[in-house]
Amino acid sequence: MVDVILGLQWGDEGKGKIVDFFAKDYAVVARFQGGPNAGHTLYVNGQKIVLHQIPSGIFHAGIQNLIGNGVVLDAVTLKKECAAVAALGVDVQKNLYIAQRAHLILPTHRALDKAAELAKGEQKIGSTLKGIGPTYMDKTGRNGLRVGNLFDKDFTAQYQKLRAKHQQLLDNHGFTEDISAWENDFFEAIEFLRGLKVVNGEYFINEAIASGQKVLAEGAQGSMLDIDFGTFPFVTSSNTISAGVCSGLGIAPQKIREVYGVTKAYCTRVGGGPFPTELNDETGETLRRIGSEFGATTGRPRRCGWIDLVALNYACMLNGVTALVMTKADVLDTFATLQACTAYEYDGRQMNQMPFQLDAGPLKPIYQSFPGWEQPITEFRQAAELPPVMQSYIQFIESCLGVPVRFVSNGPGRDQLIERPV
Ligand code: GDP
Ligand code: IMO
Ligand code: MG
Repeated sequence: MVDVILGLQWGDEGKGKIVDFFAKDYAVVARFQGGPNAGHTLYVNGQKIVLHQIPSGIFHAGIQNLIGNGVVLDAVTLKKECAAVAALGVDVQKNLYIAQRAHLILPTHRALDKAAELAKGEQKIGSTLKGIGPTYMDKTGRNGLRVGNLFDKDFTAQYQKLRAKHQQLLDNHGFTEDISAWENDFFEAIEFLRGLKVVNGEYFINEAIASGQKVLAEGAQGSMLDIDFGTFPFVTSSNTISAGVCSGLGIAPQKIREVYGVTKAYCTRVGGGPFPTELNDETGETLRRIGSEFGATTGRPRRCGWIDLVALNYACMLNGVTALVMTKADVLDTFATLQACTAYEYDGRQMNQMPFQLDAGPLKPIYQSFPGWEQPITEFRQAAELPPVMQSYIQFIESCLGVPVRFVSNGPGRDQLIERPV
């Protein structure tokens, strides 16, 4: 049986914290897509740690953490992260497993990401420049190298062949940056990777399920960044929705039970692309300041705005969300008025569905206003303690989405999560 935790917005919903909280009830925590573009923040014994490649269950002794086949893996990032996690007393050699079918991010993939973004100019995606797009392109283009290839005798020759192909593309882009330092790091890191537990991920996970163990699948990015259903082309290069769990781990759809959708009580986006409820004003600035909205991977300021129920409804439909987790509710503590976008106005028409292109024309969010609770909630641990106006705000969201808000997160700490009775 597999439960899923994934983001319903444009990423950074607080998935890492929620996975860390839920992990204790599971035997395996598995990442199924994305790569080091992810930045999942956890607080362990009051200490902040940001995970990019390692699943967020790693701080629980006895839980197996799998980097699934659907992930793209940067060995250099992984090596650094293993060192950071080991310094906090975690035995990575024991609890971390890597699927042999996961594709490797090469130094030239990172260079190609950079070159492609430069070529796009004003139209750039705002990629994290971690090589995600080019690595998935080599996967679907059937050129990529996988973790399992590291054990081939001719791995270096395979590497050089793909590198030469990439060099041609880089030359076409006029990319001249010296990447030899990246390559040295890469070869050192793959030596380290060879020493970790590389497994057949699909058997690993299915045998765990067959023996009655519980698996928690951890999403990266968010539904609105999904390659098929997000705000294309301003998206990432993988299926971030629950369907990605099946292909990214090798499990059948009927094995999936709960799909926990994580959403902030408001909304953020980092990088380019449409964002209907974005606030380019003082209110947006206040959300950014109180919510410390700066990218966990790139440090870029996140764009901030009100919660978008049209986009959330769409995400609930695509993912089959069974329960919602609302994070960062405490960030709204000081606001006198809150807004929730319930529809879009486009071409003089009101609509409740996600259009083919959000930025095809001037689109106006239609808001419903709510009074704020104007009191600190960070110390509360029981649902009954939450202010009645906040309960109304949550109930309105539940009624619009048709899914219960089962948990409310009221601070970044591990213990700051309130379960609501259903
Ligand atoms: P992820 O990528 O979805 O794991 O989210 P990030 O780690 O990129 O960003 C979420 C940020 O919000 C992190 O800095 C978390 O520590 C923080 N955070 C998570 N939940 C809460 C919450 O309920 N309240 C507050 N104030 N911060 C939170
Ligand atoms: P987590 O898992 C927020 C965004 C980038 C860019 C677009 C494409 O922490 O929620 P990419 O590097 O994937 O080619 O970038 O997607 N993006 C994220 N935004 N959180 C993330 O991950 C993201 N991963 C990628 O900013 O707009
Ligand atoms: Mg993040």
